[in-house]
Amino acid sequence: MIKNDLILRTLAGLATERPPVWMMRQAGRYLPEYRRLREKYSFFERVQTPALAAEITLQPVDQLGVDAAILFSDILVVLQAMGLEVQLIENTGPVLPEPVRSEADAKRIFVPDVEDALSYVFDAIRLTKQELNGRIPLIGFAGSPWTLLCYMVDGKGSKTFDLTKSFCYTQPALAHRILQMLTDTTINYLLQQVKAGADVVQLFDSWGGLLGPEDFEVFSLQYMRQIIEALKGESPTILFAKGAWHSLAEMAATGVSCIGVDWCIRPQMAREMAGSPVVLQGNFDPARLLTPKADLKKQVIRMLNAFGPGRHIANLGHGILPNVPVDHAKLFVDTVKNHVYQNSYEKSSL
Ligand code: CP3
Repeated sequence: MIKNDLILRTLAGLATERPPVWMMRQAGRYLPEYRRLREKYSFFERVQTPALAAEITLQPVDQLGVDAAILFSDILVVLQAMGLEVQLIENTGPVLPEPVRSEADAKRIFVPDVEDALSYVFDAIRLTKQELNGRIPLIGFAGSPWTLLCYMVDGKGSKTFDLTKSFCYTQPALAHRILQMLTDTTINYLLQQVKAGADVVQLFDSWGGLLGPEDFEVFSLQYMRQIIEALKGESPTILFAKGAWHSLAEMAATGVSCIGVDWCIRPQMAREMAGSPVVLQGNFDPARLLTPKADLKKQVIRMLNAFGPGRHIANLGHGILPNVPVDHAKLFVDTVKNHVYQNSYEKSSL
């Protein structure tokens, strides 16, 4: 049994005494303990060694007291399992030396046996669950098919991912075939994560917001819908499509348990657009963690009040930045943990 199941109760639509809190990318470079391991092991060594992945996963749990752990891994391991080389280059980010941009390139990729190709992820989940020893739930995750396609085609990070967009617009049949391969792989991957012990899974559609509403449906949401459908009855799901606020109603209609929102939408507006009873997650501006502490606390409370009592998982609106002081991250977590929902009428009517 899980001692602190606040996030699971929230995802199940139950009333809670306060919102649960965790931070996207909470295991990472702002933590000195992470930076120490970074000097000794390469990024993919850290990801592929279950003992290291488990240790890094637990760092923010022990340091900050968050209500959920998220497995230390990366969305790009799925591309490696599908036959592509992915490197992580200092100060540049992920690089695929041989991106996929044609029918000939696509011959190099395949739908893998994920149980075998990503066995280290499932080992890391099992080990992390053991070490968590029921303290808090563990979140598993994957990138959305669209966001993975962005890296597969552009071959590196981009502000616009216009190579991927033009690939979709000029070779739509091939793009859709690859998006379906990514979807099939991701469904198996997330089901195996749940089997290994993940209590919740989150889909990161980090670049969904680069698409307009129609393209978002065609190139992203229709594939995420398949994934959410496949997980129904297996695990609660969180869908985070950064910048895709225009499709909150469509995302809610997938039956997902929770939708992540970024800081560019007012919580009240997100509630109205998504409708009841979907749970919302977010949406503190990650750069706002750099605010002086007295003001930071006020800003966090303002966010909590804007979401209102219930149906909210406190989080950032995107990943934590490497230059955030640990005590500021801790203040964010502590402020949420000290919050008490006042409005008991709304609580009991949830
Ligand atoms: O949240 C967590 O604590 C779990 C860890 C996690 C990482 N990546 C570790 C990581 C998660 C959930 C991810 C997901 C991920 N990876 C996404 C989706 C979320 C998002 O932020 O939009 C994306 C787009 C990636 C791809 C990726 N991996 C990029 C763009 C980069 C370089 C940018 C950066 O932050 O350095 C990575 C590398 C990466 N993944 C690091 C970490 C801790 C930094 C590695 C290092 O230099 O130590």
